[in-house]
Order: sequence, then C-alpha cells, then structure tokens
Amino acid sequence: MNAYLTGIIAGLALGITAMAENTNTFQGSVELPDVLRAKDGKVIQSLSDWENIRKPELMKTFTEQMYGVMPGKPESIEYTVFESSTNAMNGLATRKQIAIKMKNAGKETSVDLLLYVPNGQKAPAPLIMCLNFKGNHATTDDPAVKVCEKPIHSDRKEPYARNEAAERWPYEMILKRGYAIATMCHGDIVTDSKGPMNNYVFSLFPELQDRPDNFTAIGAWAWTISRALDYLVTLPEINPKQLTVVGHSRLGKTALWCGANDPRFTVVISNDSGEGGAALSRRMQGETIADLCRNFPYWFCKNYQQYVGHDKEMPFDQHELISLIAPRHVYVASASEDAWADPEGEFTSLKLANPVFKIYGVQNALPADTMPEIEKPVHGYNGYHLRAGKHNIIAYDWGNYLQFMDEHFGRTQK
Ligand code: GCU
Repeated sequence: MNAYLTGIIAGLALGITAMAENTNTFQGSVELPDVLRAKDGKVIQSLSDWENIRKPELMKTFTEQMYGVMPGKPESIEYTVFESSTNAMNGLATRKQIAIKMKNAGKETSVDLLLYVPNGQKAPAPLIMCLNFKGNHATTDDPAVKVCEKPIHSDRKEPYARNEAAERWPYEMILKRGYAIATMCHGDIVTDSKGPMNNYVFSLFPELQDRPDNFTAIGAWAWTISRALDYLVTLPEINPKQLTVVGHSRLGKTALWCGANDPRFTVVISNDSGEGGAALSRRMQGETIADLCRNFPYWFCKNYQQYVGHDKEMPFDQHELISLIAPRHVYVASASEDAWADPEGEFTSLKLANPVFKIYGVQNALPADTMPEIEKPVHGYNGYHLRAGKHNIIAYDWGNYLQFMDEHFGRTQK
C-alpha cells in the first residue's frame, strides 16, 4: 500500500469523525481522502503548510487528473464595445456588449460578453459572472442583444430563440438589488460536443491537446471567464473586490474550477453542479465517472478516464476542490428532484471543506450539522440550500444568492 493510499485510509477516520461531529447524513460508509493530509502523509495543521504544501499539491492533482491544464494569456486580446445603451431595461441598467477578440499561434477567435450595470448607483457595483447555455440573446427579450450564431453544439446549427432561457435569468431582480451581471455563452467559447477539440478558443492552443492533461471544455469555459474578468475589473462602475462567479450544472462545475483558479472571485456559487462539480464521486449516487466520461469526455482531460469504474478508490474527491477556494466564500445549491446530481453529496463535500476554512480562522464555515430541509437555506460563511423541484436555476436560487452576497458584501437588506 503506498503512502498516499495509507493517507486515504487514515482520511477515512477524519471523514467519519467529521460526519459524527457534524452530521450523520452519510448513507452507508464512504471512505474519503483527507483534505488535510499531504501525499507524503504529513498532517497539515498550519496555514503555511496548507498554502505551501497541500494546496499546490491538490491544485496540481485537479489540473493533471481532472480539468486539464490552462493556458496563460493569449498573444493578443482586444476588448471592443460594439454596442451600448444607458437606457436598457426601461432605464434600469446600462448595457454594454463587448467582443473579446483573442489571437494566438496564428489563429483568432472572438467571444461576445453581455454586461448590464444598474443605473443610479452611488458606488461601483458588485459583479456577478455567469455563463449561459443558449446564447446571450436567449437570456433576455432585450432586442438589442446580439444573437449567438455559432453552433453551440455540433448538432445544433440554428441559433436558439431570443428569451428562450429567460426563466433562468431574473435580470430585473438582480439589477434592482444593485448588482451588475455579465454573461457569455459557453458554446461561443468552445462547442459543447464530443469530437475534435480544435474549435474557437481551443484553436488558439493546439499544443495543449495531445497530452494526458489536455486543455478541456470546462477549462476553456473557466479560462475565458477569467479573460472577461480581466476587462471587467478595469471598469470604474464595477467593484473589483466584490466579484462572484455562478454556474448551473456543467457550468456549476466550471464555476468551481474557475473559482479555484482565479482568486479575484470573492464568492463562488455552484448551482446543481453534481458529479464532477460539488458532488462527492466516492458516494456513487446518481451520475458516476463512467457516465461523465462516456457522455462528456471533452469536459475532462484524458487522465480522468483512468478513474472510470474506480469511483470508490478516487485518490482525490470534490470536497478538496471546494477547499481550494478557501478562504473565499462558497455557496452550493441542490434541487430536491435532482438525484442525478446527488444533493446529499453536494452538501457533504461543502461541509467537509470546513477544516480548511478553519485553518484560515473561520469556525464552522458551513454551520449545518445535518442536510438542511427543503427550502431552509443555511447561510454562514459558506452557504447551502436545497430547493424544491427539478434540476434548474430559477428565481428562488438567485434570491438566495443575492441574500448571501448582500450579507458578505455588507449590503444586508432587512
Ligand atoms: C447532464 C450531465 C451532468 C450535467 C448536466 C448539465 O445531466 O450528466 O453532469 O451537470 O447535464 O450540465 O445540465
């Protein structure tokens, strides 16, 4: 048995202890890697050992084994505001549409960024960044928003209808609370399809493909959020200290990976991200690694394939991904009818990140001993809720995120 495996088994003790102390919600027994035990067996007790030993080690593991390497900045990147109005949404907001044009290795691609900033603010606004699935134009009935013409999936040639995804985008509620919001379509970055990984942003970095820790779709989505942020933080109307990344489902997996990589995000929110996101793989509830690798191999790097059928022996697990975001705030949400995403596994991984937050001096970051009941959100330093209903992101979820951000950005509205 190698030292690391011994660490895992020892980690079982921590997992069970943590469970016994804080919750008894685990169904059956699951062995989990110990987030505070380094590969060489060293028990991590200090902030400096966490930051200098364990955190870099975990970052390397998630990069090499799961989400793949990310490039640095491209040789050239230009941000061009191609449309704007100070009178969007009946005067509620200022709209800007920005083309992010990137060139590298003789190739170029462009991604459209849509930004709404609330009007009449006395101070720079906190910013929410959230990728969308169907095109910026599908998030709103605002007729000025440019239609995403690129094929988002290889089998989807036609653009989606304007406003088709509006249920997921309660812009008015967000803007009226004083938040700016920016979005890009994930399929404008790289297509969300199996097949050659050489389109759009992938085309800029061909050298990152033929390797076991290749640049992945989740990597490309996360990387491009950071490239958009490079620009957004230069705007005087945006508060660069109050930045949130949110994502739903595969884009929730992306939000967590983006948050782990980009320390500028103060709050990281995973909505129903499930397997490969917030949910613990070792529980094998709902989706498994085999399902992910069969249906969406391009989300993860080639190395990840080796874990198919070995979920229960994973040498790392998703509570360790969440730990990489500490000491920044993390919010995880689930939906009661979303067994595929394993709500309990999502809750538990957030809970099991508490020891790392404690190293930063935050006691009981997620103050919940057991899985919260439906629509009884827990908002501590970190947050969790279980919404009634299906896999989705709707006003109930956004309302909780706004409340949580208000609390941490000192904007509490009673
Ligand atoms: C599928 C997939 C999930 C993913 C979801 C989504 O259900 O199995 O892993 O989160 O799609 O992105 O909507």
